Amino acid sequence: MSKKYLALAVACAIGAVGLVAQAQAPSAPPAGGMSANDIVGARHAGFVMSNFIFNSTRRAMGDAATEAKSQVSAANGLATWARALPTMFPAGTGPGAVTVKTRAKAEIWSDRAGFDKDAADYQAATAKLLDLAKANDMAGYKAQIVEVDKTCDACHAAYRAKETK
Ligand code: HEC
Repeated sequence: MSKKYLALAVACAIGAVGLVAQAQAPSAPPAGGMSANDIVGARHAGFVMSNFIFNSTRRAMGDAATEAKSQVSAANGLATWARALPTMFPAGTGPGAVTVKTRAKAEIWSDRAGFDKDAADYQAATAKLLDLAKANDMAGYKAQIVEVDKTCDACHAAYRAKETK
């Protein structure tokens, strides 16, 4: 085998091993992955951005001339974040475990099923919001904003501390 083909064969073998490793552990943490403090920072960014999106879509729909279909990207932003939200609260990122400020309550981890239920309600509410935007259902979209808001409040009441610690 020429050197060129040997190099190619080696590269293929390495590639194949890489693929197998990927298939076995698609979500293994990357080397030098995020620290617990980084994760708190990333979820905080997600909440701040989702808060802005939520308030702006609510404001936009206050104008009778706004069509729901103009809110597809806002609703998609919320729905996308809602799907990622539960993954942003791994064990070891709660109060006492990080040195950055967090309003996450310890109950997120002591009552994980309850937290996951609230996160699932938020996912369902924002997925429906997106469907209504795509369907350009203006009355439905407006009503669904109220439903989404309830899912924010429900989770905050149980799992977000009142004051930043
Ligand atoms: C499943 C639970 C859950 C849902 C649903 C949820 N949140 Fe939160 N939210 C939290 C938790 C927990 C924190 C605190 C995270 C931290 O500080 O580590 C938070 C933090 C925030 C913050 C940052 C506040 C601060 O002072 O740091 C904002 C803003 C926010 N949420 C807005 C919203 C809005 C708006 C919605 C709905 C559109 C929403 N959240 C839905 C649990 C939730």
